[in-house]
Amino acid sequence: MNRESAASLLLPFTLIYALAVFASATSFIGNVDITWGDGRGLILENGNLLQLSLDHSSGSGFQSHQEFLFGRIDMQIKVVPGNSAGTVTAYYLSSQGTTHDEIDFEFLGNVSGEPYTLHTNLYSQGKGNREQQFRLWFDPRTDFHTYSILWNPSNIIWYVDNTPIRVFPNLESKGVPYPKSQPMRLYSSLWDAEDWATQGGRVKTDWSQAPFTSKYRGYNADICTVSGGRSMCPATNGPWLKQTLDPASLQKLRNVQQNNMIYDYCKDSRRFPGGLLPECSVQL
Ligand SMILES: *[C@@H]1O[C@H](CO)[C@@H](O)[C@H](O)[C@H]1NC(C)=O
Repeated sequence: MNRESAASLLLPFTLIYALAVFASATSFIGNVDITWGDGRGLILENGNLLQLSLDHSSGSGFQSHQEFLFGRIDMQIKVVPGNSAGTVTAYYLSSQGTTHDEIDFEFLGNVSGEPYTLHTNLYSQGKGNREQQFRLWFDPRTDFHTYSILWNPSNIIWYVDNTPIRVFPNLESKGVPYPKSQPMRLYSSLWDAEDWATQGGRVKTDWSQAPFTSKYRGYNADICTVSGGRSMCPATNGPWLKQTLDPASLQKLRNVQQNNMIYDYCKDSRRFPGGLLPECSVQL
């Protein structure tokens, strides 16, 4: 065998190996579109890293190129470090229109040394008011961590480093609308909300620290695409499509809800004088 044919044999193996190693991360190139921010959003490192930035004149944002009807999205995020008071890094799925569905993660920054708040919410057919907030068990500024949204016909699960922190089960049988017919996209943005985000607007953004940046990598999207308004799931359906919480995951969820949850719309009867939303009476 001469040198050239050895090299041509080797090349496919190298390629296959590379594909196997990176199979769980999708390039940002071609799969997300930076939609605003006039150059403040950047795709770097051959599509493996995405960076959003925010300064006094603008934030920035991106969205997934494809729409989907059910999916599991994983993303590693490292949010604005240091004094990030007033900044909000939003990472969510959303459909469009006045009766839209939306599944949210929002990271509310804080002054140096004080913890971020992880804010979550869900809109179903235009109705939100389903906030739950958490203190993470780590500082999300110092490292990348994986934040996932699983959305299938039976439940929506928010995960942090594969630990479920929140679940919204399909309770249509109890009259709770469930997102299942409007296609969504993934969106993410970094913007300023100094008027409300940090301690109710008392702590303002320190613009001398600008530009603020949040970083993304390890994007993975297992999705059902949409054709003629219908969900087209891949023939090789991942387990995510049927996934619910098994007893061990349910136990993890309960631990996080007990130890890390700082706000729960289901416990805020002052805010809902006419009665809590119907899903609140369902014991998980
Ligand atoms: C910032 O830190 C303070 C003090 O720990 C806390 O009360 C507040 O909720 C935090 N704000 C946010 C937006 O997380």
